Amino acid sequence: MATHSIVFLFVTLLLPCYIAKEDFVSIFPFLRVYGNGTIKREDFLLSTPFGKLVPSSLHDPQTGVSSKDIIINPTTQVSARLYLPKLSNPNEKIPVLLYFHGGGFCVGSASSNGDHAYLNRLSFLSNVLIISVNYRLAPEHPSPIPYIDSLLALKWLASHEKGGVESWLVNHGNFSRIFVGGDSAGGNIAHNLVLWAGGKKLPNGVNIFGALLVTPYFLGSQPVNFEPKNFTETSVYKIWRYVCPLCRAGVDDPHINPLAPGAPSLKQLNCKKMIIYVAEQDVELRARGIWYYEAVKASGWEGELMKFEAKKSGHVFPIFQPNQMETLIFFKRVVGFLKS
Ligand SMILES: *[C@@H]1O[C@H](CO)[C@@H](O)[C@H](O)[C@H]1NC(C)=O
Ligand SMILES: *[C@@H]1O[C@H](CO)[C@@H](O)[C@H](O)[C@H]1NC(C)=O
Ligand SMILES: *[C@@H]1O[C@H](CO)[C@@H](O)[C@H](O)[C@H]1NC(C)=O
Repeated sequence: MATHSIVFLFVTLLLPCYIAKEDFVSIFPFLRVYGNGTIKREDFLLSTPFGKLVPSSLHDPQTGVSSKDIIINPTTQVSARLYLPKLSNPNEKIPVLLYFHGGGFCVGSASSNGDHAYLNRLSFLSNVLIISVNYRLAPEHPSPIPYIDSLLALKWLASHEKGGVESWLVNHGNFSRIFVGGDSAGGNIAHNLVLWAGGKKLPNGVNIFGALLVTPYFLGSQPVNFEPKNFTETSVYKIWRYVCPLCRAGVDDPHINPLAPGAPSLKQLNCKKMIIYVAEQDVELRARGIWYYEAVKASGWEGELMKFEAKKSGHVFPIFQPNQMETLIFFKRVVGFLKS
């Protein structure tokens, strides 16, 4: 009780003073919370070469990959950037990867230079059609909206098995090879979609074949092995209350803590194979990635489970460290996975 009172005193009396002095508190690189209650996005990512927004290109001269932007849902304006590799024959059907970018559910875009270069390259190397989804972002669109948008994108994809408006999907999608994937918050979304698919059916009986979780974003109120002692001070931890202000369980909401009380069993993950990629220098989230892997393994899930760790690499290394050896190894493994 005494501890609670001290915390309460700090939050109610001291924190506002601190904010007033500083004018804002930054949850870097996601949001700024101003003393008057206004919340703004940090524009750090947008100001870097990785975050700068770039147009799609109908034909990338280096890779032969075509990309275009489409609207998935006119009401919500949920959109996507699609990547179609150069095909060896005009009737070829190829695997489809539904991909979700990272950014703590608050920042990031399918049009970011870093994401564009990464998925353009992945499409080229793997000969896979990629759909990179712009789900709506918090804090304007708090959880569960990002998950609802992502699920809608998955259903939209599955609906094309029997024809639809998106010709690349209708003509070239192999619906027995649907993959979901994402980095950081996007990896968390991929997990939630595969878990959802364990209890519900997708249109046309389409199934998710594989899932790719790249330095995924998970949290929990209880520390796990190898997690920094001060994990509750990290931005990825602090941002969650702005992503889900109405989550009564806080970071033990089952979307972000897959082992929270009331979370569905991981045994229900409904895909055939999964890769979990963690990074040695991802101080904040490496431990949670390993913890998630161990939890899936311990659940008795019957799919093929793989975990890899990129040495000397940081969070979302395939985007931020595109040219290092570990990233080349990453691409090699992921290409093999998508071709299987
Ligand atoms: C709150 O402060 C921010 C930053 O100084 C400012 O941009 C915003 O207009 C203010 N909002 C209100 C409602 O005063
Ligand atoms: C879809 O991919 C599987 C696995 O590679 C392959 O066996 C099947 O023939 C493909 N379907 C089409 C329509 O190309
Ligand atoms: C947590 O502790 C580590 C090691 O002492 C330090 O480097 C890091 O800056 C701390 N992180 C936060 C968010 O306070």
